[in-house]
Amino acid sequence: MSGRLAGRVVVITGAARGQGAAEAAALTHEGATVIATDVTETDGVRRLDVTVDHQWAQLAAELRESYGQVHGLVNNAGITWRARLGDVRAEDFARVHAVNVTGPLLGMQHLTPLMPPGASVVNVGSSAALTAHYPVAYTASKWALRGLSKTAALELGPRGIRVNTIHPGFIETEMTASAAPAFRASNLRETPLGRTGTVDEIPPLVTFLLSDDASFITGAEIPVDGGYTAHGGAKSISDALREP
Ligand code: NAI
Repeated sequence: MSGRLAGRVVVITGAARGQGAAEAAALTHEGATVIATDVTETDGVRRLDVTVDHQWAQLAAELRESYGQVHGLVNNAGITWRARLGDVRAEDFARVHAVNVTGPLLGMQHLTPLMPPGASVVNVGSSAALTAHYPVAYTASKWALRGLSKTAALELGPRGIRVNTIHPGFIETEMTASAAPAFRASNLRETPLGRTGTVDEIPPLVTFLLSDDASFITGAEIPVDGGYTAHGGAKSISDALREP
């Protein structure tokens, strides 16, 4: 099959649903051999709990045997936990960190040894990684992922491996479906484009970052958020002063 990712082997975590599933479909369409993984095994999705080191080791051994190389990794798996600063328990803070930060760390540790020059890692952050989003465990984990990504870009650059981070805003998935109605309404108020995003608005950027079109882009952070993180809180002022 031809396509921008023809001949590439790409691993996606958290690919059973939501953004990960949309990415798996889109990258396959672009010609990639996609290894879709998730904590629960389903049709076409291999079991991989991103927090478990030996499961990554097993996956890496299988990929080495089957393909010899891996060209892309999308660290998409993530969980939220909507407790505020005064209420969050240390074990929940650690659990969120394990999935959202340690997972991508393990993924890069196990798969980048299989990566040739030109390979690419995409880490999925969040608008929470750029703001003071109230669920503190989630927010702290996504800020930590930014630091991990920056260090990884530095560390892996000499080998020709690129590492970039994308920051989705409010995207319609099961994760956001479980949020309070007020969360949706206030997000819409703060989003210049005035709507939520769909899962199909994420894969084009992931495809670009995995492809040679992004060959000189590493260590970058790109929001896909309808402008949510661009205005630094100034939208309500602009809206209040706008002529009716
Ligand atoms: P989702 O909840 O629909 O999908 C997340 C997937 O990750 C699920 O299939 C789940 O089974 C999997 N997962 C959870 N724990 C795992 C583990 N330990 N190992 C492997 N897989 C695991 O969520 P969505 O919206 O598709 O989220 C994808 C990514 O985008 C996450 O990193 C999330 O934090 C991020 N994000 C989502 C936003 C949204 O508005 N939906 C906004 C900003 C970031």
